[in-house]
Amino acid sequence: MGFTVAVFDAYGTLFDVAAAARRASDEPGGAMLATHWQDLAALWREKQLQYSWLRSIAGEHADFWKVTTDALDFALEVQGLSDSALRARLLALYHELDAYPEVPPVLETLKAGGMQTAILSNGSPEMLLAAVTSAGIGPCLDVVLSVEDVGVFKPHSRVYGLVGEHFGCAPSEVLFVSANGWDAAGAAGFGFTSAWVNRTGAPRDRLPWAPSHVLHDLRAIPELALAE
Ligand code: LAC
Repeated sequence: MGFTVAVFDAYGTLFDVAAAARRASDEPGGAMLATHWQDLAALWREKQLQYSWLRSIAGEHADFWKVTTDALDFALEVQGLSDSALRARLLALYHELDAYPEVPPVLETLKAGGMQTAILSNGSPEMLLAAVTSAGIGPCLDVVLSVEDVGVFKPHSRVYGLVGEHFGCAPSEVLFVSANGWDAAGAAGFGFTSAWVNRTGAPRDRLPWAPSHVLHDLRAIPELALAE
């Protein structure tokens, strides 16, 4: 049987997590970020993911907005940029991140081809709704699934299990797409066919599982999903 569901990670895959710091650096008052925004964005993301994994291991779940805010506070302090107005602006921008340009046409092609589509994300339902709405991609998605339904972050198998629970499908029917190498690997370990969107040319994560496909961006996803 071919794929019946295409499932997308959100942050880094559909939404550009560097966009908040980049946009803030371009705004009036953003001069303090001019030479710092890339380092700030990278550290913010790194700590956000670390906190998600540490909370999962420790059994101390908090939603992804709390994790994102804590990570930003750490990153701003490291950069010597702790400033309440800047913090508030960065969080507001993160709430409505830019989608990568290929996202709307890719989702439209999948839907036109009869594919079911979903987001499966660490994000809280509220922050995912805000990002999906501001990107205008809601009509191309059958469902937005959040880890808040299971109270643990990826790559816990209970998170990937949400897809089958919602769609009533077998893992073999799912094409899972993520720009996070560890997420594409975790999804492969669960039994999905996974595509790693390696936007940055990163080396493969050394984990027990490997993605089935490695792509540069999302443009090849419809061909892959609708091929069988
Ligand atoms: C997500 C993070 C992992 O959207 O990017 O789940």
